[in-house]
Amino acid sequence: MWLYLAVLMGLYYLLRWYRERQVVSHLQDKYVFITGCDSGFGNQLARQLDLRGLRVLAGCLTEQGAEQLRAKTSDRLETVILDVTQTESIAAAAQWVKDRVGDRGLWGLVNNAGVSQPTAPNEWLTKEDFMKILDVNLLGLIEVTLSLLPLVRKARGRLVNVTSVMGRVSLFGGGYCVSKYGVEAFSDSLRRELSFFGVKVAMIEPGFFKTGLTNKETMIQNSRTLWKKANPEIQELYGEDFLASYVKVAGNIEKQCSSNLSLVTDCMEHALTACYPRARYSAGWDAKLFYLPMSYLPTALVDTLVHLNSSRPAKAI
Ligand SMILES: NC(=O)c1ccc[n+]([C@@H]2O[C@H](COP(=O)([O-])OP(=O)(O)OC[C@H]3O[C@@H](n4cnc5c(N)ncnc54)[C@H](OP(=O)(O)O)[C@@H]3O)[C@@H](O)[C@H]2O)c1
Repeated sequence: MWLYLAVLMGLYYLLRWYRERQVVSHLQDKYVFITGCDSGFGNQLARQLDLRGLRVLAGCLTEQGAEQLRAKTSDRLETVILDVTQTESIAAAAQWVKDRVGDRGLWGLVNNAGVSQPTAPNEWLTKEDFMKILDVNLLGLIEVTLSLLPLVRKARGRLVNVTSVMGRVSLFGGGYCVSKYGVEAFSDSLRRELSFFGVKVAMIEPGFFKTGLTNKETMIQNSRTLWKKANPEIQELYGEDFLASYVKVAGNIEKQCSSNLSLVTDCMEHALTACYPRARYSAGWDAKLFYLPMSYLPTALVDTLVHLNSSRPAKAI
């Protein structure tokens, strides 16, 4: 009986492997628009797809980022300035994309732009702090998607949303995890709706990677600034010792980050080029072996694990 089971499992994985290796044809004619290409995953993906011969349309937040990317890529790759928090900027970028893709439509839209700050325990923050992240990671992503979806539908193409394994398990306060849970929800409903039109939706759920988003100095500086801004009652509740250990943890995150960004960009590339992309890609060993399994554990057990690893506020009962 165990042997039959092992053979069946083996066959299933063999079949899946074979199915996932099928690549779509005419990649050289396909346009892919990526947001947040100044640095990190977006920048690496733009270069990777350009090398593979796809027609990359790269959204960059700054002219400097755009210039640097163009200097490292072929003449095929074009850039546009895009701030996903600004409706006018999105509308202008959408028109720019439309002018380029014409009747072919847009094969791929990769919603990658994101920020992680301000992040701190929820009570240290204001609504504005939450909005700073939600405006980019969630509402910006939704507006970009709605603006470009007609072009993606025309090409019966792909939508690739970069979420995070923090969209499966919420391990810290602030808008980041909230935004990524939101992107998961948006992508799940879109995937079901768009399947009627031949559009495939994939989510990329990376663990921790070394990019601007996880920069040690930024995280430490940000924690101290938010602490100073928090009201005195909250400061008394948490105490200076809590702040010291919080800053230490924030400073140590970078050490746990993988420098191998290809683990993420290869998933994005697969989602764009495979005939049968996955609905979800978990990228990075920490995501696969730790955070994702953690997300399936009973809530009480996860809470205990998190408590065991966090410092206690001064006035904790
Ligand atoms: N690094 C990780 O560990 C990790 C893990 C899970 C998920 N992610 C997700 O991966 C995505 C890419 O992040 P990354 O790690 O590659 O960090 P990154 O290097 O900081 O890249 C983020 C990109 O988004 C751009 N951006 C920021 N605000 C923007 C705005 N308002 N409009 C348009 N673009 C904007 C940034 O431009 P500037 O460089 O000019 O600021 C940058 O190019 C994000 O969605 C992030 O949440 C990252």
